[in-house]
Amino acid sequence: MKTFQAYLEMVNQAIASIAYPERPLHLYEPIAYHMSLGGKRIRPVLTLMACEAMGGDAEKALDAAVGLEMFHNFTLLHDDVMDNADVRRGQLTVHRRWNDNTAILSGDTMLTIATQFIARSRDLRLMDLFNKTAIEIYEGQQWDMDYEQRSDVTDEEYINMIRLKTSVLLGCALKTGALIAGADEADADLLYDAGVNMGLAFQLRDDVLDVWGDPATFGKEIGGDIMQGKKTYLLINAMRLAQGDDADELRHWLNDPYATRVNKVAGVTALYERLGVRQLAEDAIARYNDLAVAAFNQVNMADADRQAFVQLANRLAGRNY
Ligand code: IPE
Ligand code: IPE
Ligand code: MG
Ligand code: MG
Ligand code: MG
Repeated sequence: MKTFQAYLEMVNQAIASIAYPERPLHLYEPIAYHMSLGGKRIRPVLTLMACEAMGGDAEKALDAAVGLEMFHNFTLLHDDVMDNADVRRGQLTVHRRWNDNTAILSGDTMLTIATQFIARSRDLRLMDLFNKTAIEIYEGQQWDMDYEQRSDVTDEEYINMIRLKTSVLLGCALKTGALIAGADEADADLLYDAGVNMGLAFQLRDDVLDVWGDPATFGKEIGGDIMQGKKTYLLINAMRLAQGDDADELRHWLNDPYATRVNKVAGVTALYERLGVRQLAEDAIARYNDLAVAAFNQVNMADADRQAFVQLANRLAGRNY
């Protein structure tokens, strides 16, 4: 297997070489803008890594990898409208730089371009996996928004929501690479499992960074989840643990429509710190990362490749970006 950096360069080159039509400018310019902002490119790199770990040639998985990254970027355009987010990857979100309609329609176009890239494989198994995954993500996004209005969301509901909105795409990315390489079904499914557990740790880390991250490395505004009333693992546990004055204060911050952003984010963050919910999230991240490693350990592959996956999982679980 090559290094993460080598796969990243393959992906970046392939993405940079996509020629979008020139007109309508306001359809394609936002796509080129968003795709050029980088990001971690985790999903396409996972596809290439899985393909080579299973004995395939990464070049053969490159179209599918690019398709999955395009799809991921489509979900971000729409997600930023739904989450009312101004900044992504350190730059203005598409709906802020242009407008909501642009984010909707450029996003739709990205979804279709993504499908075209995956269809180049002429492999119905990849299309089926991709379409199933896409619908699961939309379901997860709907739960995510539904839960904004609810105050009785359980840990189990939260985990299922993030499994859908985030984790299945990491599983899909790994399984796609494995299928292209012609891996055994058992290995492809274990890689899928590893990806899902990695994804749970990944989204929990994202929730932690949304509160305690540094915008300079994280690339997003801090406190977005708090402002939107997102039922993150942090908030669910804070609502469960807060007693007396803490419970009153938490309710106050969640329900006061006149609280300023800076006060509300600082107030809820201070409560999180008082209640110790960050450690609960760190523990959950470690648990899901362990499950991901355990799944990678069961896959039939070279030890060096296994190490590369484990290192990547550990790095992502502990990231600050
Ligand atoms: C953002 O995904 C959405 C989540 C699932 C947390 P990434 O954190 O992979 O975003 P980029 O692609 O690196 O910007
Ligand atoms: C994003 O979850 C999941 C999808 C985009 C499908 P978030 O809403 O937490 O992602 P960020 O924090 O905006 O990147
Ligand atoms: Mg969201
Ligand atoms: Mg969001
Ligand atoms: Mg987030």
